Amino acid sequence: MKLEIKLADVRSLETDLLVVNLFQGVTVPGGATGAVNVLLDGVISDLIQAGEITGRQNEITLIHTFGKIPAKRIAVLGLGSRDAFSSQVIRQGMGALVRYASARNIVNITTIAHGAGIGGMDPEESARAVAEGACLGAYRFSKYKTQGSDPVVESLDIVDSSADKIDSLNQGMNLGKVLAESTNIARDLGNEPANILSPIELALRAKAVCESVGIEFQAFGREEAFNLGMGAFLSVAAGSEQPPRFIIMKYSGDPDNPHNNIALCGKGITFDSGGISIKPVEGMGAMKGDMAGGAAVIGAMNAIGQIKPKINVMALVPATENMPSGAAARPADVVTSALGKTIEIVTTDAEGRMVLADAIAYAINNGQNRIVDVATLTGAASVALGNVASAVMGNDDQFIEQVIEAGKFCGERFWELPLFPEYRDQITTGIADLLNSGGRPAGTITAGYFLKEFAGDIPWVHLDIAATARTDKESGYTAKGHTGVAVRTLVRLVTDLAGSSFQVERRVG
Ligand code: BES
Ligand code: MN
Ligand code: ZN
Repeated sequence: MKLEIKLADVRSLETDLLVVNLFQGVTVPGGATGAVNVLLDGVISDLIQAGEITGRQNEITLIHTFGKIPAKRIAVLGLGSRDAFSSQVIRQGMGALVRYASARNIVNITTIAHGAGIGGMDPEESARAVAEGACLGAYRFSKYKTQGSDPVVESLDIVDSSADKIDSLNQGMNLGKVLAESTNIARDLGNEPANILSPIELALRAKAVCESVGIEFQAFGREEAFNLGMGAFLSVAAGSEQPPRFIIMKYSGDPDNPHNNIALCGKGITFDSGGISIKPVEGMGAMKGDMAGGAAVIGAMNAIGQIKPKINVMALVPATENMPSGAAARPADVVTSALGKTIEIVTTDAEGRMVLADAIAYAINNGQNRIVDVATLTGAASVALGNVASAVMGNDDQFIEQVIEAGKFCGERFWELPLFPEYRDQITTGIADLLNSGGRPAGTITAGYFLKEFAGDIPWVHLDIAATARTDKESGYTAKGHTGVAVRTLVRLVTDLAGSSFQVERRVG
């Protein structure tokens, strides 16, 4: 989507659609909404009186202007109650609005920066939310529709009449755009079918991101993984004809301080059939998206490479299919991970924690001082939290809190589950150091506990996005299919840790 900040007065602005807004309970509209209302002989206040416009969150009312003002149409976007107003309300509203306009074939639109006037919001924050919500709302995965793909909003102008806001609006818009585009990269990867998105293809897509933002890329296959002792990762890859790839993306934002670093590990199972412990027929197709954690990490690196925070970030995506075959790992096999810990495979369907164990090992062996992993790890995450929040666990309270706070800033919810020592019993016994499954009770927690054993004393946070990575319903800025969850939170976390402001670097010269 083409985005632009324009210095203009809404009263004289030519556009197919001008988006203004209304808080719930306001009967006499002010600001841009008030100005337009006056020129339209009070039609907006009349509709408020009549109860047609209420200002409810995401309510959209379309008004045709019949030449009374240069804007052909007005959309009044409800912002809900003033007390609950936030950048998330703007993102959701703009997402809904873009979809509404697209469905009516209105593809070039203009909006004010919601809340930046009488709403009292910082103009930069408002523009970021407007751009982010609009670009996310305009997303759809239509590359395999050879005909009849629906129209979608192509350009959005954000107008303001005060020249002194233009710089901040531009800053915010650029950041919002980068964050949304990065999220959409993750969505595309999640939605891509597994016959196209093999581990090799995933590596190529990650490489393309690295080249486009100018960061380092590396990937290796079975041989190097064997040399590094990645028995857990290789046991998952064993059953697949598709060569696995261990993907590494490196951003060096603080080269003089190599210890100022963080590793982002994302589960990269390009298809999870369950392996020999094969999954039932129903819903197996959704397992093309079992690399959503890896996709989130790749998307985040796309933003980090452009925002350029003062910190070193290493992204690791152990990518492989999980397939049954004569070469596949079996239940009761014992494998040795890269950290030397032995694992007895209870079920080959608990493969995500296997590949992540070796990714965490790689991070530790390469001097990483903080680790976040992201994974569609357990179906039990949906039992615990539904699709409303992702689960978060870790070994460092402050780090967990930082992730939760970063999520709040982006409108992504993470809810902590406990890693009480008693849960260890469920993955103990057997004939090895660890079992790869703790059975049904607290399935999300025991998976987290398994990873905790590998993180050791390194501050580590685990995000289980199994229930939030994909959705069947569209709402606000969320399109059907993959959501790109965690991309924006990871970017925010990394910039927070870097102590830098959350903005796209101003390029000088
Ligand atoms: N990829 C699945 C988890 C999953 C389920 C993600 C549903 C998204 C939607 C994971 O590899 C898996 O199969 N987990 C098992 C673990 C069990 C065998 C211990 C599960 O959740 O059933
Ligand atoms: Mn599985
Ligand atoms: Zn899986």
